[in-house]
Amino acid sequence: MIFFRSFASCTVCMLGAVFALLSAPLFASEKAGRFNLIPAPAHVRASSGSFEITAQTRVFVTAGNDTAKRVAEHFVDALNRVTGFELFVAFFEARPQPANSIAFVLSNRKAFGEEGYTLSITKKRVVISASGAHGLFYGVQTLLQLLPAEAFGDPVLDVRWKMPCVEIEDQPRFRWRGMHLDVSRHFFPKEFIKRYIDLIAMHKMNVFHWDLTNDNGWRIEVKKHPKLTEVCAWRVDREQQHWLRRDPPREDEKATYGGFYTQEEVKEILAYAAERFVTVLPAIELPGHTSEVFAAYPELSCRGEKLPVQVGSYWPNVDIFCAGNDSVFTFIDDVLTEIAALFPNQYIHIGGDEADKTRWRACAKCQARMKQEGLQNEHELQSYFIKRVEKMLSAKGKKLIGWDEILEGGLAPEATVMSWRGAEGGIAAAQQGHDAVMSPVSHCYFDYYQANPQFEPEAIGGYTTLKKVYSYEPLPQELTPEEAKHILGAQGNVWTEYIATPQHAEYMSVPRMSALAEVVWSPKEGRNWKDFQQRLPAHFRRFDAMRVNYSKGSFTVAVQTGLVTNKRQMRVQLESEQPHAEIRYTLDGSAPTMQSPLYRKPFVLNRTATIHAAICGDEKMQEEVTRQEVSVHRALGAKVSYAVPPSAKYFGGRELGLVDGLRGNLQARNETLWQGFEGEDAEVTIDLGKPSAVAKLSATFGQQRAWWIFLPSFVEYFISNDGKNFESVAKVEHEVSVDQEGALIHDFTTTLAAPKHCRYVRMKAKSLGVCPPGHPGAGGKAWVFVDEIAVD
Ligand code: ACM
Ligand code: ZN
Repeated sequence: MIFFRSFASCTVCMLGAVFALLSAPLFASEKAGRFNLIPAPAHVRASSGSFEITAQTRVFVTAGNDTAKRVAEHFVDALNRVTGFELFVAFFEARPQPANSIAFVLSNRKAFGEEGYTLSITKKRVVISASGAHGLFYGVQTLLQLLPAEAFGDPVLDVRWKMPCVEIEDQPRFRWRGMHLDVSRHFFPKEFIKRYIDLIAMHKMNVFHWDLTNDNGWRIEVKKHPKLTEVCAWRVDREQQHWLRRDPPREDEKATYGGFYTQEEVKEILAYAAERFVTVLPAIELPGHTSEVFAAYPELSCRGEKLPVQVGSYWPNVDIFCAGNDSVFTFIDDVLTEIAALFPNQYIHIGGDEADKTRWRACAKCQARMKQEGLQNEHELQSYFIKRVEKMLSAKGKKLIGWDEILEGGLAPEATVMSWRGAEGGIAAAQQGHDAVMSPVSHCYFDYYQANPQFEPEAIGGYTTLKKVYSYEPLPQELTPEEAKHILGAQGNVWTEYIATPQHAEYMSVPRMSALAEVVWSPKEGRNWKDFQQRLPAHFRRFDAMRVNYSKGSFTVAVQTGLVTNKRQMRVQLESEQPHAEIRYTLDGSAPTMQSPLYRKPFVLNRTATIHAAICGDEKMQEEVTRQEVSVHRALGAKVSYAVPPSAKYFGGRELGLVDGLRGNLQARNETLWQGFEGEDAEVTIDLGKPSAVAKLSATFGQQRAWWIFLPSFVEYFISNDGKNFESVAKVEHEVSVDQEGALIHDFTTTLAAPKHCRYVRMKAKSLGVCPPGHPGAGGKAWVFVDEIAVD
């Protein structure tokens, strides 16, 4: 997992039983498309006509329930604010419900669970019904989306507040529908936290994972240990420098960047979240990602060394709590006592990720602890640490949740696992009878690029488009139905190394949050990307009204290619996530204009070309032009075999990945393209199928030092006719330094003096094996990343 670690360098009171979907729909669901609801409700039936809210509309709520009344008032307040009406909520005594009224009804029907609701809109009246206030609240969210988008914005006069007549029955698929925010790498003010909670709630999500501590700053007041906020919440300001290359702080410099939330502010946020049925999950990192604590309390680390609060990237994460020192556990208990008292929900997140064990291995106290407890290795010491913390939490009536590393060395008895490095952690937890929340980097990390990195603000890496998020399925196929009940739901994570402002945090979070909301709320059978795309423009109008800085990045062109079987040809398809987009393109290297060919359907390329494509809108081309080189060569689609297979994590394109005509780039670590070899040489043999004339050989490699990826020291090419006896035909070296920063791509190309006939071509790339001296990972396994191997 070195790759993840090095570049993702981080980096509830829940209902009882797993939510069971109704076994049969009460009535056939229409496509949500017509109503532009996100997330799509479980069942929708349209009828004709509309209901109009006017200054005379009356609002009722079932008598005697104050929580339900507050939900109705939440709706009425929102409406009055934009409409200028003076509606109010009255208890509902008399029946039948009068005309021109909206009623919030608490019913005894439990069919839709605590979060489900029904909504009936006829020309005369509106009825929202649920078994509790939580369901009514989601009915309100739907109601607001059925109104014109202006309902989400500033006061307006000339809008008629009409809603289409419809019957809706709705309930969530999963009970954990979360969004995370890291407030340590960058601090976000209280007002933004509330706005983030608003976004969560409008998407019918219900968990806000508030990541309050990490190496770059401690962000919550702890009364017993005031230096945590006096000292550990502040760092020397290096905001003008790149996150990975910040000058270390000097002794004489004042720490001025940072901030924290007082306990009073936390209470205010908790009350705000509770009104919106959002559970706040506090996260306090341990045993790693704690170096900021040692700025004030160095005695809690293995070496007792006072450290500055980190100004930027801190990797590897070596300075962690000492596991052999009992005062560490006393300190943690003090902190968790105050956290447990403050946060009403059942869970506390304790991190548990990425703790490097270097210091533990060298620490006499940690080693003594291992001996005394009979622990075989440092993973077991970590497990001991987490189990001890779990006991503390249980004593306070709380449950422990942590990142999937808490599985290493043995899971604490009651722990819930948040699966981030893939689905494996969640699968293992569920198979062991533990609950899990799915949040894999592949689909749920919203600090990753969401569109072509050429046009995006710098992100930590990756490539997770809106469509990819939408395609996510939280329930792993590996699980039996019984085990699957342990998958509580899923969560989107927003780590903020590269996100310094609220506007940027919004940009990275939405609309991917909208896609994930549908994944976790809507029935799986009804999920439909095309339909979601149709609904998105209306949802964007809501964001516009709210002045949310949502990303339109997905509105660039994506190039999809496919090999034409047994031919030296590529089929090219151009796509955009924008419905009905007009795409224009060129193949001659020039920028597309309004005169360039209009893309109508997939086409075939029989030569190497660079595709440029862009969307045109409002009679002009949009600025973002997608560029993709497509290499058409003799080995396209050929059979490839490996001396040692690539890492399972980086096996882009599987067996076809190296001969698919596409090159990866390392700005977006496009997993669909690269193949990675960890600490090993890459040796690949290509079978051209029949003897062919070969004149030119080329292989593309990447270097991204920060991610532990280095060019091979050389590449050697061999040819053969029988696949057994190989003749070396060229050895290609290079002059790129291992110290060169940033992403670079290098072709190792050779042109043979005269073409040679052969059926097999072998490429052998000599890996550095380990990261070179002076690199943060010196001695650790280095990666070789290769993509296309072209034969001509
Ligand atoms: C993580 O991203 N380190 C949980
Ligand atoms: Zn120690």
